Amino acid sequence: MPAPHSPAAERNQQPILEQLQRLLPAQGQALEIASGTGQHARHFVAGLPGWLWQPTEADPELLHWLRQPPRPARWRPPLPLDVAQPDWGLGEARFELVYCANLLHIAPWACCAGLMQGAARHLAPQGRLITYGPYLEAELPTAPSNLAFDADLRARHPAWGLRALADVAAEAARAGLRLSERVAMPANNLLLVFSAAGS
Ligand SMILES: C[S@@+](CC[C@H](N)C(=O)[O-])C[C@H]1O[C@@H](n2cnc3c(N)ncnc32)[C@H](O)[C@@H]1O
Repeated sequence: MPAPHSPAAERNQQPILEQLQRLLPAQGQALEIASGTGQHARHFVAGLPGWLWQPTEADPELLHWLRQPPRPARWRPPLPLDVAQPDWGLGEARFELVYCANLLHIAPWACCAGLMQGAARHLAPQGRLITYGPYLEAELPTAPSNLAFDADLRARHPAWGLRALADVAAEAARAGLRLSERVAMPANNLLLVFSAAGS
C-alpha cells in the first residue's frame, strides 16, 4: 500500500514554513500534534536546520506510516499522542514550539481544551503554540469555500466543524495562553501564535 499523501499539505507546507522561519528562533525543539502523513514534519525539519522535530499522531495507521524510513535528520521517532488524554505521556519534556495543523475542525470540541492545556504543560518558558487551519471570525465574512467545508465536515460527523477563533482564544486563555499573533494564510486559513500569558 502506498504511503498516505495529502495534496493540501503539499500546497500549504511552504507558506507555513516561511512563517515558522520568520517567527521562530534559530534553534529549538518542536512537538508536532496530529502529524498525519508527516509531510509537514519532513518539510519543516529540512527548512529549520537548528530544530529537532518530534512528530506525534493519534491514529495508529498513520503512526505506522510516520515510522517508516527514511527518517529525516533531526527527527525524533514518532510517538502516539491523543490531545484529549490528560497525560500526553511525555513526562516533564518541554518544547520551544508546539505545532498543530488542521486538527480542531476535524475532532470533537473537547480536543481544543486538550490541545491548549497540553501545550501549556509542555511549552518551555518562552515557547509558542502555533496552530494552522480554517476558523470562523465573527467580525469577518466567512469565505464560501470555508462555509462549504464546514457543512461537509458537519455532515461527516456531528462533532466536527470549523471553530470560532474567539472560542479557541478563550480556551487558550483558560489554559494560561494568549493569542499573540494572527496571520492570514492562502486559501482562507489562519496561522495563530499563542504564548504563555505572562511572557
Ligand atoms: C486533517 S488531518 C491533518 C494532518 C496534518 N496536521 C496536516 O495538516 O496535514 C487531521 C489529523 O488529526 C489527527 N487527530 C484526530 N483526532 C486527534 C486527537 N484526538 N489527537 C491527536 N490527533 C488527532 C488525525 O489522526 C489526523 O492525522
